[in-house]
Amino acid sequence: MRKFMTTTAMAALMAAGFGFAAHAEDVKEVQMLHWWTSGGEAAALNVLKGDLSKEGFAWKDVPVAGGGGDAAMTALKAMVAAGTYPTASQMLGYSVLDYAAAGVMGDLTETATKEGWDKAVPAALQKFSVYDGKWVAVPVNVHSVNWLWINKAVMDKIGGTEPKTFEDLVALLDKAKAAGVIPLALGGQNWQEATMFDSVVLSTGGAEFYKKAFNDLDDASLKSDTMKKSFDNLATLIKYVDPNFSGRDWNLATAMVIKGDALVQVMGDWAKGEFVAAKKTPDTDFLCYRFPGTDGSVIYNSDMFGMFNVPDDQKAAQVALATATLSKSFQSAFNVVKGSVPARTDVPDTDFDACGKKGIADLKAANEGGTLFGSLAQGYGAPPAIANAYKDVVSKFVHGQIKTSDEAVAELVKAIDDAR
Ligand code: BGC
Repeated sequence: MRKFMTTTAMAALMAAGFGFAAHAEDVKEVQMLHWWTSGGEAAALNVLKGDLSKEGFAWKDVPVAGGGGDAAMTALKAMVAAGTYPTASQMLGYSVLDYAAAGVMGDLTETATKEGWDKAVPAALQKFSVYDGKWVAVPVNVHSVNWLWINKAVMDKIGGTEPKTFEDLVALLDKAKAAGVIPLALGGQNWQEATMFDSVVLSTGGAEFYKKAFNDLDDASLKSDTMKKSFDNLATLIKYVDPNFSGRDWNLATAMVIKGDALVQVMGDWAKGEFVAAKKTPDTDFLCYRFPGTDGSVIYNSDMFGMFNVPDDQKAAQVALATATLSKSFQSAFNVVKGSVPARTDVPDTDFDACGKKGIADLKAANEGGTLFGSLAQGYGAPPAIANAYKDVVSKFVHGQIKTSDEAVAELVKAIDDAR
């Protein structure tokens, strides 16, 4: 008994001692895993590095290239399995929830309460940043995928106007082709193809259809004629892509539009970050239109910084990162460069360009009108296994391994069923 008490007392003393030492030696470094490796993305990340460095935190970069984050998520899985958590990782929607369910996320609720995040962050995002009543991630931005990015000089040359319907878009692509310009810039990677298909489905079937098929995973919608028609429309678009598209990175496709080698790219508004990095201005150098037939709806994704359950001496750095990320000034400065819009509803649009202002207004209207939908390609429609199955089927269709729209619908239904 005596020995027990002594041991307990010693343990208490040691714990107190360690606790004190840990505070004195808090790690002044933020380790961040992300896939922001393009010019525009790196410029945006620099805003965060700068803000943290002003507060005395060093930056330890863990970049894993590959848009959509598939490669980054594989790297993260390995780190977490080895028990070496980064301070935070860029993550999308349902993967945050998966890691939270696995019990490896930290708890930022105390900071959230102090900073009033509940009131500032839209409910659609809190669904993914709060798990079991605890803040486990902080949203950095809101991106939206149903956009067209158009070279203005090429548009003027071919006498094009904003396409309002899918047929208008096809007529516009024909004009570009006739003028000897590559009509549609695309990178043949499954996540890019599926990101474009998100827009095609919304355009073909309308808001209610997109939600039922790609957020609710309603069987009848997935196997419907409307889904078949969506694949027909995708096949039509692919005819306007140049033959060298396989494997091309998304930012190289954006560069084709920036240079005027191609007319248009269908891509999330991270593409705008590339235009901004190339010092291009909306309405003068490029045009941002909603994918025809999707005006009024927003298909979104949001980059979250997933906050891991790091050792005590790293918690202060994590809190500093989280607080900096959700500050109003950062939300404006970062998103102006990134091409996205703020993840808070109380950030003024003053510093944003015309496309950014439109993005902010569209998001507000969609949020209020019930037409804000998670992107299936970008991790906000369904859990990763289902999203991956979806990307795989779309890509096989684009690359001719699945030959017909009928077959594509059957494969999609089967792949999603198997992944459920
Ligand atoms: C992310 C963006 C990123 C894009 C391309 C998306 O999944 O949400 O932040 O810019 O991938 O890398």
